[in-house]
Amino acid sequence: MFTDMLKDFLKTYGATGREDKIADTIKNYVEAKADEVYTDVMGNLIAVRRGISGKKIMLSAHMDQIGLIVIDIDDRGFLRVSNVGGVNPVVTVAREVVFENGVRGVTYCETEKSGVGEATIAKLFVDIGATTYEEAAAKVGIGDICVYVTNFVELGNRFACGALDDRVCCAVVAEAFNTAVSDHDIYAVFTVQEEVGLRGATTAAYAISPDFAINLDVTLTGDIPECARMSVKLGAGPTIKVMDSSAIIPTFVRRYMEDVAKKNNIKVQNEVLRGGGTDAGAVLKTKGGIPACCISIPTRYVHSPVEMADIDDCHNAVKFVNAMLAERELPRF
Ligand code: CO
Ligand code: ZN
Repeated sequence: MFTDMLKDFLKTYGATGREDKIADTIKNYVEAKADEVYTDVMGNLIAVRRGISGKKIMLSAHMDQIGLIVIDIDDRGFLRVSNVGGVNPVVTVAREVVFENGVRGVTYCETEKSGVGEATIAKLFVDIGATTYEEAAAKVGIGDICVYVTNFVELGNRFACGALDDRVCCAVVAEAFNTAVSDHDIYAVFTVQEEVGLRGATTAAYAISPDFAINLDVTLTGDIPECARMSVKLGAGPTIKVMDSSAIIPTFVRRYMEDVAKKNNIKVQNEVLRGGGTDAGAVLKTKGGIPACCISIPTRYVHSPVEMADIDDCHNAVKFVNAMLAERELPRF
């Protein structure tokens, strides 16, 4: 059930800044359990279920996926592109891509002066099968954004697919929202434009002004050959984020998370991510400071078409979120 929902989220288009379709898909999964579902000016999708405590807890995961935006079309119909979010050009050569209107294409790069291993964003182009400028421009316009087309690859307990960042956490938030027992008002927020600077979370947190916020995102791991040093491993549990480049989680919030995990026997691991931020960073800095945390799903090959995660980590993340939602007391400093 979780996996079916996740697969549905993964196959839906939703580039950064173009989240309408993925918001519609997610809405289908959360509206039955919601008292209210709405979208805001930025495009954030917000599902609310009211409790009795008068306190608000915001759950969030970002809907957007990194992509390539068309900046020019040449005489032979090749699309030239720029990145929206942290696209790695080397893993973006020789990929199938799709636009919001369903137009498909493949990527390649200029090879006269260097090989595909030295691809840069400026050298990338998208071939949609057009032979002239006119033919290409009839299908795709300047400003249209394409994303990787990828398959869901099942690998035992693990699975790989593009867009796990952050659709895997959209599925965790949707599942937690649908199954949680809580005294509190739950705001499940599926945010936009995380990949270009935590933008959707910034306005959503301000408007909702929650008493506590639990953000979910993917994080890198240190368990693959010759990678940067990091303790996080696939299958060792969802993480309690300690620090990344957007946030240092307040100690009283982290202690609260550790207590809840311990009390409920949930396997977790601490996370220090040296490069990269999450929506929790934006929420923490909202108004006079909102207590916020981040639970991450350990993910290999982030920002590639073969991002990989472990199903047990996903189920444990749902359990962990539900355990926090079941608490009467919120973190207190
Ligand atoms: Co990302
Ligand atoms: Zn992410």
